[in-house]
Amino acid sequence: MTMEAEKNEDFDWKVRVFDTLSFPTLILRPDKTILSVNVNFVKRYGIPKEEVVGKTCHDFFYRSEYPCPFDLCPLATVLQTREGQTILSHVEAESAEQTWEDRVFSPILDETGQVRYIIESIRDVTRVKTMEKELSELRGFLEKAIQVSTSAIIAADMKGNILVMNRTAEEITGYTLKDTKGKISARELHPPGQAEEIMRKLRDSDIGGKGRLPCTQVNFVNSRGESIPVELSAAIIYEGDNEVATMGIFNDLREKLAQEERMRQMMARIAQAEKMASLGQLAAGVAHEINNPLTGILLYASLVLEGMAEDDPRKDDLKYVIEDANRCKGIVRNLLAYSRQTLPDKETLELNDLVEQSLLLIRDQRLFMRVEVVKRLSGQNMLVHADKNQFSQVIINLIFNAIDAMNREGTLTLRTYPSEDGRDACLEICDTGCGISEDNVLKIFDPFFTTKAIGKGTGLGLSTAYGIVKDNEGAIRVKETGEKGTTFLVTLPIYHGSAETMLI
Ligand SMILES: Nc1ncnc2c1ncn2[C@@H]1O[C@H](COP(=O)(O)OP(=O)(O)OP(=O)(O)O)[C@@H](O)[C@H]1O
Ligand SMILES: [Mg+2]
Repeated sequence: MTMEAEKNEDFDWKVRVFDTLSFPTLILRPDKTILSVNVNFVKRYGIPKEEVVGKTCHDFFYRSEYPCPFDLCPLATVLQTREGQTILSHVEAESAEQTWEDRVFSPILDETGQVRYIIESIRDVTRVKTMEKELSELRGFLEKAIQVSTSAIIAADMKGNILVMNRTAEEITGYTLKDTKGKISARELHPPGQAEEIMRKLRDSDIGGKGRLPCTQVNFVNSRGESIPVELSAAIIYEGDNEVATMGIFNDLREKLAQEERMRQMMARIAQAEKMASLGQLAAGVAHEINNPLTGILLYASLVLEGMAEDDPRKDDLKYVIEDANRCKGIVRNLLAYSRQTLPDKETLELNDLVEQSLLLIRDQRLFMRVEVVKRLSGQNMLVHADKNQFSQVIINLIFNAIDAMNREGTLTLRTYPSEDGRDACLEICDTGCGISEDNVLKIFDPFFTTKAIGKGTGLGLSTAYGIVKDNEGAIRVKETGEKGTTFLVTLPIYHGSAETMLI
């Protein structure tokens, strides 16, 4: 082959390679004029090759006699650095949709190392760019959805580094995502051993399926070390078979549990009130029926006793009849007090005076022989609106119980004070007696519950007191009980009406 033929063949080969390039490509001279364009270029721009060759690139692409509008003309940089350059350009065609192009500039150097030509290939990256945009929009949307969720969401890698923590999770845990970075691991949000237990369950395919843990109640530990009950569902995120992250969605149960507890207490109060009401009716009926024959027994027995000679040997037997009948009268009195068939006669009373007067009413001073009575009455007058007789009954019942519990030997402390919020008048009756067992504490306000020997107690003292206090919008409860004794607390709302009607 001649030199000339060889040269032509070499040229043909280069042109074919140039034309096979799948991207529109052009060859530029260092003075920015277009030397040649390939077939794909002609196809892409729909302009014959002759109309392009000889123009400068900025004239062709931007119809401008000034160099290209990029801050730093890539051609100039290629000439200067003799290295390839890539720029991303946004093309706004008049009719077509917006497109994105990646323009790659590659220098061809001569033997002296100077840039002889520059090959520019134009790649349409609109699809990739659109996908990127869609992906970033989707990501933004997901981030917002996670943030606004009213359920708390936390995701962590398998080392426990927290990757995602939404606003609700930050509120519940008391940490921000920023706080946790490199400092707090997801494991520290659990009490000891719980995180491991959750992971074990997550990996157990019998519980909720592999990598899934259905709703379960657990406690988290917040930044202040408090235990927060939550309902948690969790999952492992896999890539293929590999565990890459864990995710937990949880809801704070504090309000729900508090509400359930309030409901439970309300139901217990309703049940107690119903029980008291029906037993009260029964008690009232029985007391009423027994009262009349008892009065007769006592009257006639007393008459017979009076008519007996001094030395009549049957006199003692009759005395026993009268004594027992009197005891029955006492029981009837208690039953009637418990059933409280009469309407309360409310007055404005001063609590300290009421305590003093109730103490005076306990005439049998033998009860107090070995009992030291300590009075710690508030310096502040506290007016309450209650039935005087009924409320004295409450105080007396509590004092009797206290003395019984101490087996008539110990210290009885009576304390009055206003509640912290100033709304209630409080009365504490504290003894150094035997205390009340955990089981019995639940039963002591039940009518007829007594631990005393037959004939000693009817088990109506506390249930009567409970009913009276409730009728007066107050509360009664065991404040403390144990080996050292028991403290009962009675509260009544402080009365702010006129004190003129005060009767004691
Ligand atoms: N201060 C106290 N310390 C220990 N146990 C007490 C105290 N107060 C009450 N209890 C227990 O509660 C039970 C019920 O008391 P409640 O006053 O209702 O009836 P009671 O004292 O047994 O009989 P009564 O009808 O004569 O009052 C008592 O039997 C006792 O077991
Ligand atoms: Mg009693």
